[in-house]
Amino acid sequence: MTVIVCPKCAKQHQVNIANIPAGKRIVARCKSCDHRFPIVMNLLTQPATAPLSDSIEPQIATESPAFTSAVTSSSDTSSDLSQKPLIVSDSSQQQGIVAPNNLKGDELLGKKTAFTRRISVSLSKGGVGKTTTSVNLSAGLALAGFKVLLIDTDTQGQSAYNLGKKPNAGLTELLTGELSAKEATIEARKNLWLLSGGRSLAGVKRIIDKKTIGQEWTLSEALTEVDQQYDYVIIDTSPGWDSLTINVMFYVTEVLVPVALEAMPYQGLTEFIKSLSSIHKYRKDVALKYIVPTFMDTRVKHPQEIFKKLKQLYSEYICKPIRYNEHFSEAPSYGKTIFEYAPGCNGALDYKELIRKVAQDETLLL
Ligand SMILES: Nc1ncnc2c1ncn2[C@@H]1O[C@H](COP(=O)(O)OP(=O)(O)OP(=O)(O)O)[C@@H](O)[C@H]1O
Ligand SMILES: [Mg+2]
Repeated sequence: MTVIVCPKCAKQHQVNIANIPAGKRIVARCKSCDHRFPIVMNLLTQPATAPLSDSIEPQIATESPAFTSAVTSSSDTSSDLSQKPLIVSDSSQQQGIVAPNNLKGDELLGKKTAFTRRISVSLSKGGVGKTTTSVNLSAGLALAGFKVLLIDTDTQGQSAYNLGKKPNAGLTELLTGELSAKEATIEARKNLWLLSGGRSLAGVKRIIDKKTIGQEWTLSEALTEVDQQYDYVIIDTSPGWDSLTINVMFYVTEVLVPVALEAMPYQGLTEFIKSLSSIHKYRKDVALKYIVPTFMDTRVKHPQEIFKKLKQLYSEYICKPIRYNEHFSEAPSYGKTIFEYAPGCNGALDYKELIRKVAQDETLLL
């Protein structure tokens, strides 16, 4: 079942989208407020011919008096239906259905994913933009209206610094059981919560290493009770590959890998993919999802050539590059995200593009 939110009354409807034909613009009617609105099934969805069950809501348009035609053309001028359609995809259980972006005033809704999406930002190599990506991806999703938990699993504790925060507690206290998740988490921005990292995590790694059983599930166990409150849990990882990184890989389902477009990025990437495959043997739910090229300098030929090569090798995962921008290194010292420090710069635009891709919503943050 998938949740579709009525754009008018915000009623959430459980819908079996397997019964909706792919690639078609369909008119749904909210049984709660009678509002009609268009939805479009993502083409990745398998078309199905079976009739819709009576129990589903909102009902899907048919030729019956209750609903308009199942397929409407772009010349449809009905005011109810002139809004942007909801794009619905069932390509993964993790993709949420969100309310459309064209609501105003009281009608403006928080965004909602159908499931908590758990994404790690990882690569064993240092300085490739993991923290910059984690912070700005989280901040952008929060700006778009999603509830986001950013977890920093790095002893450098840069995420808090980048957000201008000095938390008294964080992931260490949660993992050692000193504090509850609620007590260890701070609200860093509207919709954005932070479980910070820092030097004390070194001790936690030793505790994990000493466990005789279930080492790799320590993080998952600590987060079980809280993560359902969030639409996204984004995890910044440290360079290297240690027990905490393994814990992250046993918790997340999606892995985003930033790759700096500089000399020889392939080796680091290949090694990381190998390590990820070794996890995959024991945990099938985790998968490489996005490769995000960073430090793209369009004035120089070399990064563009590397990007081209990466695109050939990893076409399935590759995202639009994040361009080199000096504002990225300046923003953290002001404790600001790129959207706060230089909202119009190309780096901010590139992260917005990435956010739209991750959220599968082309209308976000426009
Ligand atoms: N697109 C970019 N353009 C210019 N500078 C950038 C860009 N992305 C990140 N930076 C800067 O590069 C440096 C390294 O970035 P960041 O800290 O995000 O990398 P990291 O992979 O998290 O590093 P580490 O492995 O040490 O944790 C930072 O000073 C950051 O501000
Ligand atoms: Mg970092």
